[in-house]
Amino acid sequence: MEKTFQRIAQHTCSWSKGMLTMHNYQGFWNIQDFHEGAVLAQESFKAQPSDVFICSHPKTGTTWLKALAFAVVTREKFNESSSPLLTTMPHECVPYLEKDLEQIEENHKNKSFPLVSTHLPYDALPRSIIASDCKIVYIYRNIKDVIVSYYNFLCKWLNIPIKDAPFELAFDEFYRGISWCGPYWDHILGYWKASQERPGRILFLKYEDMKRDTTSNVKRLAEFVGHPFSSEEEQAGVIQNIIKLCSFENLSNLEVNKSGKHRSETNAPVENRLYFGKAKDGDWKNYFTDEMIEKIDKLIDQKLSDTGLVL
Ligand code: A3P
Repeated sequence: MEKTFQRIAQHTCSWSKGMLTMHNYQGFWNIQDFHEGAVLAQESFKAQPSDVFICSHPKTGTTWLKALAFAVVTREKFNESSSPLLTTMPHECVPYLEKDLEQIEENHKNKSFPLVSTHLPYDALPRSIIASDCKIVYIYRNIKDVIVSYYNFLCKWLNIPIKDAPFELAFDEFYRGISWCGPYWDHILGYWKASQERPGRILFLKYEDMKRDTTSNVKRLAEFVGHPFSSEEEQAGVIQNIIKLCSFENLSNLEVNKSGKHRSETNAPVENRLYFGKAKDGDWKNYFTDEMIEKIDKLIDQKLSDTGLVL
C-alpha cells in the first residue's frame, strides 16, 4: 500500500512559476522528496554511536564540507591521486539521510564509513541520533550569501530564467522563513542550543572562517571526527593535499562536476555543476537593496544575537 505523508501546509513559491512547492511539517519547510525521505528516516533510521553527521541548511557550504570530511576519514585508503572525489561528486561520496537510507545501512553493516549528511533541523533528526549521542558537524554561512546562492541554485535547477524570477519575491519568501529546511535562523538556533546542551558533541564551522583559515578548520574537523593528523602527516603535507583536492578550483573543474548529473535516475536530477557557483563572499551586494539589508539584519539580530554567532 502506498504510504501517505502527513503535511501541515503547502506553499508554491511565488517566483518559481509554479514549479517549486514546499511542504511544512513539524514546523519547517521541505521539498517533497526530502520531506518523504525525512519521514521515513524518522520512523526507521537506527543510528550507530560511531556515526558522524554533517548537518546544514542548503547552500551553506555542504558540498565543500562533505568533500573535506570524506577526504579526512578515508585518507588511509586514498590519497589525492586515487580519491573517489576525483570521479564522484561529494554528495554521492557522503550519503544523505533523507535519500540514501539503504546505502547508510550497508555502511553500518560493513562498519565501513561513519559519515552521514542531512539538511534536517536538529529537532527533526531521528531520535536514535540523539539517543546514540552521535557527533554532529554543523556548517553555517552569512545569511545574505545563502539567500543569493539558494536563489541562483533553484532558478538553474528548475530552469527558470533569472529575468522571470524576481529576486525580491525570493528574498521575501526566505525572509518569511520559507526555504528548504528553513527558517534558516531556526535551523542555526536549533543546532546552537543543542551544542550548549551537549558540549563536545557538535562542532560549529563557519563557511567564511573555513575559507579564511582552511588549515586550522580542517585540523579541527579531523580531530573532531576522530581522525586527527599526526605530526608526520602534517610535515608530509597531507593537510594541504586534502585542502587542494577539495578546493573550489579543483572540484569545480573536474569532469564529473562539470558534466555529471546527481540522482540521474530520479525525476529531479541535478547537474553537478549547479553545486559549484561562484563561491564568493559578499555576492549578495549585487542583489540586495538597502531595505532588504535593513530587514534581514534586524531579523538576524532579533533571532540570533544571544548566540554570539555573527552572520
Ligand atoms: P555560491 O552559490 O555562493 O557560489 P551547498 O554545498 O550547501 O549547496 O552550498 C553551495 C555553495 O558552496 C555555493 O556557493 C558553491 O559555489 C560553494 N562551494 C561549493 N564547493 C565549494 C568548495 N569546494 N569550496 C568553497 N565553496 C564551495
